[in-house]
Amino acid sequence: MRSKLVAGNWKMYKTAAEGAVLATAIRNGLRRKPGVEVAVCPPFTALTAVAQALAGSPIALGAQNLHPEAEGAHTGEISAVMLKEHGCVYVIVGHSERRRECGETDALVNAKALAALKAGLIPIVCVGETREEREAGRTEAVLTEQIRGSLAGLGDRLEGLVIAYEPVWAIGTGLTATPQQAQEAHAHIRRLLAAMGGRDAAARTRILYGGSVKPDNAADLFSQPDIDGGLIGGASLKADSFLAIVHSA
Ligand code: 13P
Repeated sequence: MRSKLVAGNWKMYKTAAEGAVLATAIRNGLRRKPGVEVAVCPPFTALTAVAQALAGSPIALGAQNLHPEAEGAHTGEISAVMLKEHGCVYVIVGHSERRRECGETDALVNAKALAALKAGLIPIVCVGETREEREAGRTEAVLTEQIRGSLAGLGDRLEGLVIAYEPVWAIGTGLTATPQQAQEAHAHIRRLLAAMGGRDAAARTRILYGGSVKPDNAADLFSQPDIDGGLIGGASLKADSFLAIVHSA
C-alpha cells in the first residue's frame, strides 16, 4: 500500500539560520511511525543549512521550484542537478502561487516534472481549482486539464512522482476543503491517473492534500481513502504544529 507523506512547504519564509533552528526542532520532536514519511521544502538559500541540520535523520529535503533545463543562460534559475547536489529528494512543481505569479502553464510544469525525474528527484506536482472554478461547477474539468497537461507523457512513470491537490481557495485562507470535498477531488485525480498509467500504478501513486491543513483538521483529512498525506504551508513554519500534523498521519 501507499506510505503517507507529510511535507512542509516553507514558501518564502526562514533564513538559513532560522531554517536550521526549525529543522532541528522538527528532528528532535519527531516520533517515527512506519509508513509515514516526512519532508521539508525550505527556500533555496536555506537548503544547505537545513540539509546539515537533518543529516542522518529520516526527514527528507525538498525544494520549491526548478528550471526545466540542466544548465544554461537562465539568470536567477536553479536546475534539478543543483538541487540534487544539495541533498534534495523532492521538488515542488506547479504550485498555484507560481502558476499565478509567474505564469506557469501546464506545459512548463510538465517540462519541470520531466527534468526532476531525469535527475532522480521526486516531483510533487500541484493542481487545484480556484474559488470561481469551484462555484461554476468546473472543479473536475479543471483538475482533468491540469493533470493531463502537467503529466503528459508520464503515464508510465506515475509511481516516481507525487501529486498535491491544493484548492486555491483553501491556501492560506483558513478555509479548508472538507474531508468529503477533498476525497472527491482525490478520487477524481486517481481515476485520471488510472486512465493514463493503469489502475495498479494509480493505486500506488501518492496524492497529498494542501490548503489550510492544521493540527485540528489533519486527522480527518488523512483518514480519507485517497488522501495520502499533506503539503503544509503556514502550519509547517512552527515545529509543534507541523509535528502535530505529522503525528496525526
Ligand atoms: P497553507 O497550509 O498555508 O494553506 O498553504 C498550503 C500550501 O500552499 C502548501 O503548498
